[in-house]
Amino acid sequence: KRHLISAADLTRDDAVLILDTAEEMARVADRPIKKLPTLRGRTVVNLFFEDSTRTRISFEAAAKRLSADVINFSAKGSSVSKGESLKDTALTLEAMGADAVVIRHHSSGAPHRLATSGWIKGSVVNAGDGTHEHPTQALLDAFTMRRHLAGAADGGPTHHRGPGDGTGRDLAGRKVTIVGDVLHGRVARSNVHLLTTLGAEVTLVAPPTLVPIGVESWPCEVSYDLDAVLPTSDAVMMLRVQRERMNAAFFPTEREYARRYGLTGDRMARMPEHAIVMHPGPMNRGMEITAEVADSPRCTAVEQVTNGVSIRMAALYLLLGGNEPALAPSAPADK
Ligand code: CP
Repeated sequence: KRHLISAADLTRDDAVLILDTAEEMARVADRPIKKLPTLRGRTVVNLFFEDSTRTRISFEAAAKRLSADVINFSAKGSSVSKGESLKDTALTLEAMGADAVVIRHHSSGAPHRLATSGWIKGSVVNAGDGTHEHPTQALLDAFTMRRHLAGAADGGPTHHRGPGDGTGRDLAGRKVTIVGDVLHGRVARSNVHLLTTLGAEVTLVAPPTLVPIGVESWPCEVSYDLDAVLPTSDAVMMLRVQRERMNAAFFPTEREYARRYGLTGDRMARMPEHAIVMHPGPMNRGMEITAEVADSPRCTAVEQVTNGVSIRMAALYLLLGGNEPALAPSAPADK
């Protein structure tokens, strides 16, 4: 594939290839020199029209670990604030010789437009578009779940399984509960597509006003009762309440939301012993998750950020250099 726009475009084989490649890439972080020469001479542009901490930094780290040149573009402080269009911005990047454009945009569909417009020749990677999709977030979430849960059938122990040991291939039968602002959450949509492709069973839990129209066609269950689903969940993913996209009419009061849908220590205690708590970040502590839960060893939020670098290395490598060996035994580390 030339672009990574939607988790829904990924077959099971595609997803497993990316996850397995990310396991290889994770080994680079254990080396004294955390770099591969694979994308030397290639240029990756981070084109961010919306704020980001984790995604932008981890794409930059990923590209640099593969020895690509990186150009960081933020709409704030650019000619976008003078009214320059996406097309003219894209043509400018093309003139700079971008081999890949990683785009985050407030409009759903902007990465698809960029990929199909002909404005740029390189690969397009969706780093989050409006309320639509965030495929690399779903991939890093699946990667994290696979490390903790895959193969741990029947609620068994969930120790880390190392790369290449033949376990942890998929998430068949794992029960994943995604809680919160599904209406505005591109993370939820991408995760529902990807996790079900990998064999997991997904349940969305949200206030009725934060469930999108048409959710019946999604391959998942919907519940309004968090306490009822916690005891059978292998992973509970808390979503950020997206106040910046919120129409007040849609939203219960913050207190009511935290009371009914927030993950507290008492609620976490209802989860099976092996189950993990996930959050894509940034977190609203005290709203969808308490500090006690966020800082507990069962919460993988920080590990998810680390895993994001490996996933983004894998995505860039497969899109731009997939015919060359990434980590063949003879591949020299970049000195
Ligand atoms: N999870 C995530 O996309 O975080 P950022 O908005 O900080 O990139």
